[in-house]
Amino acid sequence: MIIAVDGPAAAGKGTLARRLAQHLDLPYLDTGLLYRAVGRRVLDAGADPADPAAAEAAAQALMPEDTARGDLRGPAQDEAASKVAAIPGVRAALLEFQRRFGQERGAVLDGRDIGTVVFPEAKVKLFVTAHPRERARRRHLEMLGRGQDATLEAVEAEMAARDARDAARDVAPLVPARDALLLDTTDLDAEAAFRRALALITGKSKLS
Ligand code: DC
Repeated sequence: MIIAVDGPAAAGKGTLARRLAQHLDLPYLDTGLLYRAVGRRVLDAGADPADPAAAEAAAQALMPEDTARGDLRGPAQDEAASKVAAIPGVRAALLEFQRRFGQERGAVLDGRDIGTVVFPEAKVKLFVTAHPRERARRRHLEMLGRGQDATLEAVEAEMAARDARDAARDVAPLVPARDALLLDTTDLDAEAAFRRALALITGKSKLS
């Protein structure tokens, strides 16, 4: 079984996908980490994440262990990941990795295009959203927890720019799959979001 969990930044997809994977005993892949690791490699090489040649070379050289690095989160990494993610050659290089991961024994994958591009035939697709202000509040708290300094307004503005880039790009833009189940977590904590998702998934499997 493949469960696709897509949506914008800080909507609660990661927490939800991880809990679903644990509950259903499925492997879990945070596909954003792949793009973050590619962006990190480009930055480390002193190159521009928007440069297709540099980003594609980094994507082709990516090792699974790169995604375990501790320095993949923060404003510079957010921006680099979003830029490399708009390059078709980068997406193509990462597509096989994601498919192979899911094919072995099923998986829960979270990202932006899992239900539309990576596993369009997935039986269960969730599209997780939340109000932009609430998403900015969550990301801001996360950053303060990591000791990174920023104002809520700055976080909200950066997030809006990144969402716009993710949604407007030509390849695999952030859009819900036609058959995705929508889950708005604005007023839900992690536990409530998990229960709601389980109810949606169970309802769907009864129908099919
Ligand atoms: O989920 P995240 O914030 O860690 O993702 C980092 C960036 O990677 C984000 O700007 C969008 C991009 N991404 C993508 O284009 N497709 C995916 N499946 C996952 C992430």
